[in-house]
Amino acid sequence: MAHISGTANITAADAIFMHRALELAAQGVALATPNPMVGAVLVRKGKIIGEGFHTYEGMRHAEIVALEAASKQPPENFGGIVGGVFKLDKNTEAASGVLTPEALNANAFMESDAARGATLYVNLEPCCHKGRTGPCTNALILAGVKRVVAAMQDPNPAVAGRGFKHLRAAGIEVVTGLREAEARRLVEPFAKWIVSRRPLVTLKSALTLDGQLVLPHARSSRSHRKPRARRPLDNGWITSLESRAEVQRMRHASDALLTGIGTVLVDNPLLTDRTGLPRRRKLLRVVMDSRLRLPLKSQLVQTADNDVLVFTLASENSPKARALRAAGVEIVHVAGRGGKSDLRAVMAELGRREILSVLLEAGAKLNSAALAAGIVDKMRVFLAPKIAGFQGIAAARNGFQAPCELHNVTMAQFGVDFAIEGYLHDVYRTG
Ligand SMILES: NC(=O)c1ccc[n+]([C@@H]2O[C@H](COP(=O)([O-])OP(=O)(O)OC[C@H]3O[C@@H](n4cnc5c(N)ncnc54)[C@H](OP(=O)(O)O)[C@@H]3O)[C@@H](O)[C@H]2O)c1
Ligand SMILES: [Zn+2]
Repeated sequence: MAHISGTANITAADAIFMHRALELAAQGVALATPNPMVGAVLVRKGKIIGEGFHTYEGMRHAEIVALEAASKQPPENFGGIVGGVFKLDKNTEAASGVLTPEALNANAFMESDAARGATLYVNLEPCCHKGRTGPCTNALILAGVKRVVAAMQDPNPAVAGRGFKHLRAAGIEVVTGLREAEARRLVEPFAKWIVSRRPLVTLKSALTLDGQLVLPHARSSRSHRKPRARRPLDNGWITSLESRAEVQRMRHASDALLTGIGTVLVDNPLLTDRTGLPRRRKLLRVVMDSRLRLPLKSQLVQTADNDVLVFTLASENSPKARALRAAGVEIVHVAGRGGKSDLRAVMAELGRREILSVLLEAGAKLNSAALAAGIVDKMRVFLAPKIAGFQGIAAARNGFQAPCELHNVTMAQFGVDFAIEGYLHDVYRTG
């Protein structure tokens, strides 16, 4: 249960406006990365006067987008433009450290009185440091915002409570912890990455009720090899259309997909985000392939466009490596560990590339290795009401060998399937 601090005066309206801020934040999916998804709502006299969300390309933080939107409102919505810039006292200036004339000019909205006396609802603590943009705390103070309701503290060590402190020092009432669980879930890839510089890894798997990862003969029906006669049971798909649509949404929300060469050789997957929704960076398709068995004719290679990355133990200069590179595939040599590529080193490299989230969609072997290496943060298992009825590739026997227990478990239904989700550890506490 989240602890709400700052005031006992939380109203039902506060929860509703925070819900709206969270909704806005979520509109930054695939657009905010590698920044966190943030949404902001400005409310004055019970009415929303401005709102916005952050996208990386848009530069401006959600708070600034909301302030600007408020300043563009017709005067009758906020009681007239009075003009003049809010004066900072010495303490505020000292606490912020940065208050340049450029920052003031850039924030022309402060000349309007639109947000004076307003409450800001935001899912993440406003920043107080000068990154690509000026500190949001300054802008809020200058705009005359009276109260800030934030769902959670910023996990970024450069902020981590300093934003709240800065606002409070300027006399702004600060309330934190409202709808915190939802907020933490929304920014968890950022939280994991900003602290550990490693991406958040979600193991996604589809299982039959008898714990199988494949259906009989599915192995050849979708392969690039010669197709065999199709069997019933959804052409080899374990899960329903609805589950597969949800997996597409999961892909859309991820910076990278990770699979093993075993899956590529059997399924010949595309591993693309087919939601059709905008994303600022291409979904990176990553394959673990120690011996560079990736076929040049595979769909992955055929569609490679600076978005396919292969980690291998093989030489980066072999004829096969050169052929793959010529086809647009990036080959990265990775250190070995017990004859297998070191998955921790792979995560470090992906983190270095500002990959915040990885969706692991592999077969039994890589799933098992990933769990054993401790790189998996959460699991989402889609259980389909089907019995494979054969001893093919059992998740229990081959894929989930490392014993583990999930926490914060939730369940959702997609068509006839149930998706069970849980965490292997608290992603806010990984170092
Ligand atoms: N139901 C589901 O959710 C689901 C999802 C995906 C796949 N599948 C099924 O799973 C089957 C394939 O299973 P699979 O286990 O063979 O494939 P996999 O786990 O996707 O790939 C395994 C291969 O990855 C390579 N690899 C590279 N580095 C590794 C490392 N550090 N640890 C472990 N492996 C590493 C190994 O080959 P090298 O040694 O040559 O590198 C290994 O044989 C297919 O039938 C597919 O349909 C099911
Ligand atoms: Zn900011």
